[in-house]
Amino acid sequence: MIPMKKIELHLHLEGAAPPDFIRSIAAEKRIDLSGVFDAQGHYSYSDFDDFLRCYDDATSVLKTPRDYARLLTEVLAQSAEEGVIYTELFVSPEFCGGGDLQAWRDYLAAMTEAAEAGRAQGVDSRAIVTPLRHLGHERARKTAICAAETAGDWVTGFGLAGQETNGKATDYQWSFDCAREAGLGLTCHAGEWVGPESVRQALDLGVSRIGHGVRAIEDPALVRELAQREITLEVNPGSNIALGVYPDLASHPIARLADAGVRVTVSTDDPPFFHTTLRQEYDRLAETFGWGDTEFVQINRWAAEAAFCDEATRDRLR
Ligand code: ADE
Ligand code: ZN
Repeated sequence: MIPMKKIELHLHLEGAAPPDFIRSIAAEKRIDLSGVFDAQGHYSYSDFDDFLRCYDDATSVLKTPRDYARLLTEVLAQSAEEGVIYTELFVSPEFCGGGDLQAWRDYLAAMTEAAEAGRAQGVDSRAIVTPLRHLGHERARKTAICAAETAGDWVTGFGLAGQETNGKATDYQWSFDCAREAGLGLTCHAGEWVGPESVRQALDLGVSRIGHGVRAIEDPALVRELAQREITLEVNPGSNIALGVYPDLASHPIARLADAGVRVTVSTDDPPFFHTTLRQEYDRLAETFGWGDTEFVQINRWAAEAAFCDEATRDRLR
């Protein structure tokens, strides 16, 4: 019933790191990771700010281009197991060399090799270069320059992540303009922790996609606008439930958004942090909303239309 071949548009590279992978790198480097894992060995955090802290602490063990290449290899292998044929990964120069362009190029060279190996094994990938909202718009400019200077075969997108309550998306206009001029596709996390006004601010940046965007449901006029403008939402139901944006899938707006004609897609965001997998997301949508072939084919078609890739790749994904 559920199609085997899936497209995932919203996956944070570090957020996809299995706990065992982070533990083994920490052990190699003799780094103390107290506060990152609970007694069961799972990532441990109490709320979204604490999740960002835990994410940063886990990521702090990744210190070299080789570490990132190993991580990408691992994550693409996981994607293959989930039946993913194409994935877009949020990758941040903030973590890969602290925003320095030459360092970012070194990380990118290592990751590009891993991405090519992944493609040979059936998972095509692209990178969305990611500034972090909690670090502010000045730092984002450096990230935008890294993105613009390395736009090409693998780096095809630019997208703001991080703490949505920190400032407005439109504070990042310069960075988004810089990325657009370099030919990058644009997306922005919004409508996760803040309501419809945050989604409108992201739209003002000229994005074609919104990361999450689910709280648009609170404003019917905005829902109509998203549908009419064919804006694609990168929806991560398991993430929203694990972080407490919604109490359960039955109350999650994904099906209502789809019914209203909004182009929704399904991703996992940071799967081991949220104890989920892409298969599990599909299974739960099938159980909760009765989604079957028709809906899953549709969301993957919308994902193909919205992917930040060349037209030949898009034709293969359709
Ligand atoms: N970075 C990793 N996961 C995120 C999320 N769900 N929202 C914002 N930034 C993130
Ligand atoms: Zn995200």
